[in-house]
Amino acid sequence: MQAAAAEVPVENESGSESRRGCLVIRILSPDVANRIAAGEVVERPASVVKELLENSLDAEATRVLIEIEEGGKRLIRVTDDGCGLTADDLALAFVAHATSKIASVEELFEVQSFGFRGEALASIGSVSRASILSRRADETLGHQVRCEGGSLSPVEKAGGPRGTVVEIRDLFFNTPARRKFLKSDGAEIARISEAVLRVLLGREDLALELKHNGRRVLRVDRAESFEARLLELFGQDLAGKLIPVRAEAEGICLDGFLAAPDAARGNAQRQYLLLNERFIRDRSLQHAVSRGYEGFLLPRRYPVWFLRLDMDPASVDVNVHPMKTEVRFREKNRLFALVQRACRTALEASRPSGTLHLKPEAPYRSPSSRSSSSSAAPATRRERVAEMEAGLFGSEPAPAQRPEVFDEPSTTTPMRGGASSAKRRSCRDGAWPRHVEDPESFRFVQMHDSYLVVEDALGFHVVDQHALHERMLFENLAQRMEKGEVASQELLIPWVRELSASEKQRVLAAEAELDAMGLRIRDFGGQAVAVEAVPLEFGDASPDGLIDAVLAADEERVEESFSSLRRRLLAAMACRAAVKFGQSLSDREIRVLLAWERESPQSAACPHGRPTRVRIGLEELERLFLRKD
Ligand SMILES: Nc1ncnc2c1ncn2[C@@H]1O[C@H](COP(=O)(O)OP(=O)(O)OP(=O)(O)O)[C@@H](O)[C@H]1O
Ligand SMILES: [Mg+2]
Repeated sequence: MQAAAAEVPVENESGSESRRGCLVIRILSPDVANRIAAGEVVERPASVVKELLENSLDAEATRVLIEIEEGGKRLIRVTDDGCGLTADDLALAFVAHATSKIASVEELFEVQSFGFRGEALASIGSVSRASILSRRADETLGHQVRCEGGSLSPVEKAGGPRGTVVEIRDLFFNTPARRKFLKSDGAEIARISEAVLRVLLGREDLALELKHNGRRVLRVDRAESFEARLLELFGQDLAGKLIPVRAEAEGICLDGFLAAPDAARGNAQRQYLLLNERFIRDRSLQHAVSRGYEGFLLPRRYPVWFLRLDMDPASVDVNVHPMKTEVRFREKNRLFALVQRACRTALEASRPSGTLHLKPEAPYRSPSSRSSSSSAAPATRRERVAEMEAGLFGSEPAPAQRPEVFDEPSTTTPMRGGASSAKRRSCRDGAWPRHVEDPESFRFVQMHDSYLVVEDALGFHVVDQHALHERMLFENLAQRMEKGEVASQELLIPWVRELSASEKQRVLAAEAELDAMGLRIRDFGGQAVAVEAVPLEFGDASPDGLIDAVLAADEERVEESFSSLRRRLLAAMACRAAVKFGQSLSDREIRVLLAWERESPQSAACPHGRPTRVRIGLEELERLFLRKD
């Protein structure tokens, strides 16, 4: 348990007091205490870990060991080699508004440490069985204090290594309602890993180990540089893709890395902003970076970036949010411009090859006369009326009876097939059923490789090919799972992907659910996972995309009824596996989609609740052409 502390280097034994965390603890005057942003400090185990880790950093720790049991619900233990607390400090550590970091209202406006409220340990101690064991470098014997559900024990002498061990057992033991609100152990350790990762991004000089139930989740040594730390935390996939950014103006220093546009992802989870070593969220600056990337990214792709801002603490207010993740900048607009310009300049200077993927102009293919497999629109008004009466998906006249309406030669502007079919991925055919009911009964054209315009008895409808396919994959897989059938396709070579520690924990937390779907993902050691098999329906989706889907499932907003993790995972995966906009489809693929659309009551909306089709009736057309009032 005390491995990290045992390895502590001894050269710092002077007990430096340069950081405010190492000064004497005092109770804040009510005047100061009342000005502090109040609110929930301890929400879940990850928030406890964040607070304890920040305390260790304020105490100038260089090595930290974090041990977690049962997702943090049973135990959170943080051992550091920092300056430690005296017996007098320990007596106040769990007292509300007791801090060594600020003393006056003025200091509240130029906070230089992570902590300043003197509230974290008091809040944690009131909802757990907590203890602190600490020894300062200049003392031979340490001391210990306990706090159980808010009631303090006397400070006692106790032996221990230099530094501090904070133990939090049975979090929320006295507030069962909050305990019930916690997620599975896997989900909680994933959040803890993310909280740790955010701290590690601000401090590459920190060596840290995180263990869960005795197993190592993450271990990092002091890093040589920010770049080295990023590769260590996010995997070597980023190697060679990090574009440095640096800008300085009037006391503000921006530095960090933008990932090349081809490393962009389907969600914004890999966007990290640190202000004076503290992870923050700031929509405006996030937007500034996105503006910098404008023109470099495909639609709905989110850039990956890691940026750090350093500025005078007096020019920013961190006392805004109880979790301290939101701050208020005094010169917001100037900062926005600086960030946007720096990102733009860095991207333009790097000119990453092959990354300006702005969508090429897709040639417009006009509807044309059909090959023998298709039929044309009804020629006469009477025939159209007959169709209208037959209903939207009602019976249609036999194809042979229909005259053709468009007379361009099919060889030059084919409605289907032709030159574009040669580009099609033949491997995708595996995921599409061979047999299609009543294949001749559809008349359609694919427009801009994105929409299917389909004639129906009452007019026509335009189908969003991605949305419809997404719904089809979702329903097919959900149905199969309901019947308890798992059909998966083994990958010849497992697909290995490096993730951050928290991402890996999130994926592994969903392992059983994913297995039930036929998506087999295994721990590949280090920070990697391997995809060994994918659900049959998703046979042609990239395993990378499926992993992204698992990571996005938490955030994905799907129809309200899809509250279970399984359905959210399914929806996210269906989205990744479905045909994309700009993708040419074969006749057979379109017919499969349209046959499913016709038979399935759920086909009107995609799993995210967006419509899959828009209808235009003949009557409306007639009105548009002023044939009718
Ligand atoms: N690991 C540690 N090593 C040394 N001192 C510590 C450690 N953890 C806490 N302390 C001391 O205990 C005090 C109270 O900690 P606590 O986290 O409750 O408040 P804070 O850090 O001052 O402010 P905040 O509530 O904003 O975190 C700190 O001011 C610090 O002096
Ligand atoms: Mg603190």
